[in-house]
Amino acid sequence: MKIPNRIQPLVDDGAVDAVLQRLKSGKEADVYTVLCGGKIQCAKVYKEAAQRSFKQAVQYQEGRKVRNSRSTRAMQKGSKFGRKQQEETWQMAEVDALFRLADAGVRVPQPYMCIDGVLLMELVTDADGAVAPRLSDVTLTKEMAVTDFDTMIRNIVRMLCAGLVHGDLSEFNVLLDANGPVIIDLPQAVDAAANNHAESMFERDVNNITAYYGQFDPQLLQTRYAKEIWALYEDGKLTPETPLTGLFVEEDHDVDMDSLVDEIIAAEDEFYDRKRAAEERDQQYD
Ligand SMILES: Nc1ncnc2c1ncn2[C@@H]1O[C@H](COP(=O)(O)OP(=O)(O)OP(=O)(O)O)[C@@H](O)[C@H]1O
Ligand SMILES: [Mg+2]
Repeated sequence: MKIPNRIQPLVDDGAVDAVLQRLKSGKEADVYTVLCGGKIQCAKVYKEAAQRSFKQAVQYQEGRKVRNSRSTRAMQKGSKFGRKQQEETWQMAEVDALFRLADAGVRVPQPYMCIDGVLLMELVTDADGAVAPRLSDVTLTKEMAVTDFDTMIRNIVRMLCAGLVHGDLSEFNVLLDANGPVIIDLPQAVDAAANNHAESMFERDVNNITAYYGQFDPQLLQTRYAKEIWALYEDGKLTPETPLTGLFVEEDHDVDMDSLVDEIIAAEDEFYDRKRAAEERDQQYD
């Protein structure tokens, strides 16, 4: 196909040999298959800020590190230089997140490079080599749903251990390759420790994923992974290997009344035993 203007510089540089097909024109980016050194890869071309939507909202920006203070000041002032810096920060956030997550063992597309607003990465494919479908486009058996849900929860834990919350996780941003789910679309990923909205975004992410897999096995809807994982994370006890139960008991609710009553009776008995012993002692001295 004709080479889109935004990819032309990569062709001129020799990073891309040919553009094969436009896969998707999303809200935030256009995605193409491209040929690079004889291999098919995926090219994500970010749209200009003006055409983009919610993901650049201020709540996603909180706690994000910008390389130098001149850039930070310019971004706050909204000058032309500032807007350019903001664009670059936004685009680099996705490639940074992909590298960080791939290193942490989270199944994401392997990133290759990000230049001139174009991210080159692994093309995720299914068992036949065709472009992988999104979770929203497939129907799963109950067994697959249970297995893949478990894999997703493990990937979400690894992601949090690497310090990131996806922030827009749902069946629309997960692809299904021959081995299971692959998480994509990360420019809005937030810093788990520095962003005050991280916990609520984390809960929303986990709940979206639970609701999706729960369609195929309603028992999964009973799990409470978001609260369990976040509590372990906050206590500094979360590692990729931490065993999880999917259960979470809120402190103020679900008190086990039977054992509480037993404890009260035992405390009462102890009180009267002591009182009787004290009275007996007193009588001996009388
Ligand atoms: N590495 C990849 N391999 C295969 N397909 C991909 C890859 N990355 C993206 N896609 C396809 O392109 C679509 C858009 O990508 P992505 O979600 O990253 O961009 P977006 O502009 O944020 O899209 P949207 O607004 O639809 O969420 C995906 O839903 C998926 O179908
Ligand atoms: Mg998307």
